[in-house]
This record gives sequence, structure tokens and C-alpha cells, in this order.
Amino acid sequence: MKYGILGDIHGNLEALEAVLEEMGKQGVEKYVSVGDLVGYGANPHECIHRVQDLGAIVTAGNHDFAAVDKLNIDFFNTYARESALWTRSMLTEEDKNYIRSLKLVEYCDNFTVVHSTLYSPELFEYIQTSYDAHLSFEQQTTPLSFLGHSHVPVNFFKRRNVSFNMETEVKVDESMKVMINVGAIGQPRDENPDAVCVVYDANDMLVRIARIKYDVEKAAKKIVQAGLPEILAERLKYGR
Ligand SMILES: [Fe+2]
Repeated sequence: MKYGILGDIHGNLEALEAVLEEMGKQGVEKYVSVGDLVGYGANPHECIHRVQDLGAIVTAGNHDFAAVDKLNIDFFNTYARESALWTRSMLTEEDKNYIRSLKLVEYCDNFTVVHSTLYSPELFEYIQTSYDAHLSFEQQTTPLSFLGHSHVPVNFFKRRNVSFNMETEVKVDESMKVMINVGAIGQPRDENPDAVCVVYDANDMLVRIARIKYDVEKAAKKIVQAGLPEILAERLKYGR
């Protein structure tokens, strides 16, 4: 079985369609999302629908819960807050009910899916240190897990100690635990504007991470036209 693991989409339909096209070519049969379907981008409603149509397994991200008032946005920065309020106004009641129904952690095959961490998924903290990764590994009951949130793709490994790398191929070996941050489809922040496309082949236990070019200009233009802060359009062009 080949799984397409969808990183933070953030209402960026152009990036999502480009990644789905590539996943189709690679023979992906089942889709999984680590959350943040919405927020920042100009097509929140359309992205929710697209992911629903795929029959994807989806975990909730902080921007998803912010859009349905399930998360306090007082601590969001100005742009994130502005986009959360705009996103709220764009979603239908059906969209909101769907988002409210999302769980923080899901299980599938031999992997776990979460937006932020497995030790406090409801707090949406970032895994920034080896110790943070260690804490999450302590709660990981499967050989592999996928997460998002930071918008930076990175792979963590737990053998005796925790290590990490940024390789684009990861072979999962049952003698260790693996945690993969799948980066972002709709708003990468690793200085590379291309969308991240992650495919997990469960038969070979192999994860492949690729970058996909998409029409960044079009997505950026829509953000400006929607009246969202221009910085949200600009940052797409630089992957920041
Ligand atoms: Fe995000």
C-alpha cells in the first residue's frame, strides 16, 4: 500500500493540486493529512473539500481548530489572527462541523499521525530539540509517525539516542523508531518555496520526500485579492 502524507496545506489549492498530481503518478492509494488544512491561504473551503473527496485520514492542526473557535487565537501573531478570522468567515457550517470532528491523533497501518507532538497534541507545541523528539518518541507506540506544524521537513530517529537528518529517503527499520516531519504543502518555511510531497510505501517501509513546483504566483495573487495580509503572499515566494 502506498500512502500520500499531506503536510500543512494552509488553504493553498494550487500547491495541493500539484502535489496530488505527483502522488497520483506515484500510485498513491490512500491519503493521510497531518492537519492545518486551512489558515493563511485563499482557498480554505476548496482545500477541505478536496481532502474530503480523497477520503483522507486527517488530524487536526492548530489553524484548523482556530478556524472553528476551538483554539484561542490571542497568542497567534497578527497575520495568523487576521487570516484565522477571515478563514472562519469563508467556511460553511458543514466545513466547520467536519473540522470540529477531527481528532488530534490517528493510527493507520504501522504509523501514527499527529500535527504537533504525541506528548501534548492539544497544546500544539513544536519539536525543536532532541529532547522534545525524545518526549514524543516516548509516547509513540508504532515504528513510524508523521507530523507537521513547523513547515520544515526533517526526520528523527530513536535508537539508543535521538538523531535527525534531512535525507529525502528514509528506510523504516523495526529496530528503531522513526518520526518524520513532512513539512508543508502550502507554506514551506525552509527557504524552498516548492511544495513538499511525501509518499510512504508500506510494503518496502520506505518514505520518499520530494519537492514539487507549483504556480506560486497564482496562489500569492489570490491571497492579496482576498484582502489577506500581503506578507502571507510574499513569504510563499521565498519559502519563509
Ligand atoms: Fe501549519
